Amino acid sequence: MIYRQKFGEPIETQAVVNLNGVEDCSDKYLEYFKVESGSKVSLRRTLKDGVAVYGLGESTRGINKRGWSYQSFCSDDPLHTEDKRSLYGAHNFIVIAEEKPFGVFVDIPGKVDFDICFKSCDTLEILTDDRDFYLYIITGESMKDIVSQFRKIIGKSYMPPLWAMGYQQCRWSYPDEESVRKVADEHRKLEIPLDAVYLDIDYMESFKDFTVDKSKFPDLQKLTEDLKSDGIHLVPIIDAGVKIEDGYEVYEQGVENGYFCKDENGENYVTAVWPGKTMFPDFLNSEARRWFGMKYKYLTDMGIDGFWNDMNEPAIFYSEKGLEKAWANIEDKKGKNIDLYGFFDLRDSFSKLANSEDDYRAMYHDMDGKRVNHYKVHNIYGYNMTRSAAEALDEIRPNKKTLLYSRASYIGMHRCSGIWMGDNQSWWSHILLNLRMLPSLNMCGFLYTGADLGGFGGNSTRDLVLRWLALGIFNPLMRNHSALGTRNQECYNFERPQELAEMVRLRYRLIPYLYSELNKANDNYTMMFRPLAFDYPDDKFAQAVEDQLMLGDELMIAPVYEQNAIGRSVYVPEDMLLVLFDSSESFTTRKLEKGHHFIQVGLTQVPVFIKKNAVLPLCKSAISTEKLNMSEITIIGWVEDRAEYKLYTDDGISVSNKGEKLITLSAENGEVGCDSGNIRVEDGGVVFE
Ligand code: GLC
Repeated sequence: MIYRQKFGEPIETQAVVNLNGVEDCSDKYLEYFKVESGSKVSLRRTLKDGVAVYGLGESTRGINKRGWSYQSFCSDDPLHTEDKRSLYGAHNFIVIAEEKPFGVFVDIPGKVDFDICFKSCDTLEILTDDRDFYLYIITGESMKDIVSQFRKIIGKSYMPPLWAMGYQQCRWSYPDEESVRKVADEHRKLEIPLDAVYLDIDYMESFKDFTVDKSKFPDLQKLTEDLKSDGIHLVPIIDAGVKIEDGYEVYEQGVENGYFCKDENGENYVTAVWPGKTMFPDFLNSEARRWFGMKYKYLTDMGIDGFWNDMNEPAIFYSEKGLEKAWANIEDKKGKNIDLYGFFDLRDSFSKLANSEDDYRAMYHDMDGKRVNHYKVHNIYGYNMTRSAAEALDEIRPNKKTLLYSRASYIGMHRCSGIWMGDNQSWWSHILLNLRMLPSLNMCGFLYTGADLGGFGGNSTRDLVLRWLALGIFNPLMRNHSALGTRNQECYNFERPQELAEMVRLRYRLIPYLYSELNKANDNYTMMFRPLAFDYPDDKFAQAVEDQLMLGDELMIAPVYEQNAIGRSVYVPEDMLLVLFDSSESFTTRKLEKGHHFIQVGLTQVPVFIKKNAVLPLCKSAISTEKLNMSEITIIGWVEDRAEYKLYTDDGISVSNKGEKLITLSAENGEVGCDSGNIRVEDGGVVFE
């Protein structure tokens, strides 16, 4: 059951699109929360010891969110340390794992705090920043059931084209045509599979959206076509801010039509991001949204079929007004004998200019006739930027899937695109953070997602990249990305690149399974990645697992994420078959009984755990998804009597094309039979009871 309560006059975020079966109920929430309301609303509940809380999508800390205080406020913060409260997304959905579990969704486009037993060890407090929102309470048989009901009301998720399941290589930046071609060539030379190379901000002319710097990319269309003929897609970045520059069409049209966000006096609001002084398109205005979205055509006309939307929290380096204040502070203190606090204040006057609350409060939107302060709707700005692209791309490329993902997000945007997990670091702990965000994001509808593999900030190391790839091969979005000034971390830049290449090849072998599970999770409103606690709610060991995940109905994954480790402890929640890949082609298998095990996993190995009577479909690796032969499937599994797998098949690009193929495998007297001529058992791959 889903109950909805309206508080005040909520702004429609369009997170929820299907109200079938949702009951508007005036007092149901009072059974769950103690409510105090003033200018903010506080919802409080006492949690018994041991009750876990799941959800919050993209956020720091554990799979079980208990013990920390989080804040939903889309933030451009590249240091994802444990003490942070907000990342780029605002995903206000949690499930409380009480004996009778229930879910809560706070649909508010502004700030909201989730204190999950932080201030007080037994109190959950949800504190909204204003009084206008919808509160949803979702009850159900199990956590999975609650998530699935929630996913139904927020609607189906964005599904990428098949090529977006391939390996993607990014860097800030490949600054010119030659360097882009080199990335493609190096991969092809070493036969490291590759489906995409990225263009970061330097492809543009002075960082102006929908322009190309011709001195560096003299013929982008030709480059795009050449790469595509080799199965490689070029994916440019689009930033939210539009450069202020006379003669720049996007800027001039935006000013002429009043499409930019305003200040309190109705003047265009001036901030600064990469291009210097910029204005932000008012994505909350439907006309502006369509206008900006149709600009993507400039690039699709050159053959581009993938985009990443960035800086759309929106990230603000400084505003004109903020800068004026900072200068005034300097003038004021100049030549005076200031104490240490005065000095700190001087220092902070510049360092605290970025993403300041004052700037967000000084900006205004025209929500189709209604003037709204940005601060109140901050969390749906990035969502609407990406919506603008998604809606236009549907029109520009009818019935064709486009790769699209965003940095900032709110629930609802999951229907338009995927997200990447933002500017992480080349830290071991961020492998684990990548893993932990997968199920929480799935709960909120974000299925196509992944982290910058190898880490964005800081220098990566070979062992870190290998271990991260061993998790990354399961991320639907598998992209290696690194920041300006850091070590080059493309696979071919490390010693013994063939060992890294083997990881990527294994990813391509797994695509039949991953693509099927991704699409099935969407079709059936399920989670592709789940905490063990969701599948084994009565198992106290499973409940405590924070570093393993269930992947689809067949698998469990347990990557190594510690430096110098020779393996790791794994909790096996039921008898499973350990398949340890030594390379993409060779593996050993071992039956494991339910319980705790230490598994040795070398730097170039990947463990996968298959349930009994389940099979993992694989195909042969290829240098790009285009070259994959997905009609020739081999199977690995543990079959006691009969295993069945629904392989999802489609043409990989048309929105309307869908299909499913059922693989059944039966074993009698140690003999194995498959139901289709194209499916065969991987040598030594099926283990019998
Ligand atoms: C932001 C993005 C990052 C990108 C950089 C330059 O930090 O998150 O991925 O490389 O901007 O565009």
